[in-house]
Amino acid sequence: MAVVVERPAAISVIKLHPVIGAEIRGVDLAKPLDDETVQAIRNAWYDHTVLVFRDQKISEDDQRRFATYFGPVAKRVPPRPGAVGPDTLLEWDDMLLVTDNVDSNGKPLGALGHGEMWFHSDKCYHRKPHRASFLYGIEIPTKGGHTKFSSSYAAYEKLPPDVKKKIDGRMVMQGHQYTTGRRIDLTVDIATMHHCRQPITVDNPGSGRKALYVTSQNTMWIEGLDRAESEALLQRMFDIAEDPSIIYEHVWRPGDLVVWDNLACLHARTDWPAEQRRTLRRCTTEGEPLY
Ligand SMILES: [Fe+2]
Repeated sequence: MAVVVERPAAISVIKLHPVIGAEIRGVDLAKPLDDETVQAIRNAWYDHTVLVFRDQKISEDDQRRFATYFGPVAKRVPPRPGAVGPDTLLEWDDMLLVTDNVDSNGKPLGALGHGEMWFHSDKCYHRKPHRASFLYGIEIPTKGGHTKFSSSYAAYEKLPPDVKKKIDGRMVMQGHQYTTGRRIDLTVDIATMHHCRQPITVDNPGSGRKALYVTSQNTMWIEGLDRAESEALLQRMFDIAEDPSIIYEHVWRPGDLVVWDNLACLHARTDWPAEQRRTLRRCTTEGEPLY
């Protein structure tokens, strides 16, 4: 009679911060993973929101294959309504080179430009926000260009009771003004930018935990409140969501693959020296409508 032996997946999970982030060791992402390992990684992702894999040598196809363990790989979206097909500098494929490099004519070769980018959640302004984002480090500056991750579960838990009560069941308007990496200009006509109503909190389908879903870059207003009250409440929540105690700051090395859950954290980019290059390769997975 055959004896069924349970073979535990041979991965190690090392916490990087008390509330968010873990490093996974014992995995080579250049090779297909067995179901057991995939499940162990997904469970770690639900538990820690951000996973870091160091010293990976992976091709575009490897990155795409790894992403499919989390969901269908998403096609990229033009940066503004009405832009259909290749725009000034981008092909609408699933893989994006995030770089500030330019060619010999000064034409940008990648996307998302240089410098600081405020906290946001990828594609929160779409009806089906992209769920997981994957960044692979290729060229890394000697200082800066870090990615900060803030736990949206911890942010919700830190809200004072009066704020939790005030926001319960409310919706917000999320928008994307592709010309800035900072707060949207609230005087701009939202018809000229991607925007979508979303719930102000999200019950994460993986962990079952409640997460605050506002970002200082994207969230324009809270529905049902006058603008002054909405803005005051949002500013209080932005401060809580960006409290250093709930942030893991990732210092990139070439060969890092980082995957995060856009329904469980916000992320931001720090500045780096203007003369230095920074190149990462990015893809995302499709998500589900939140209501
Ligand atoms: Fe992002």
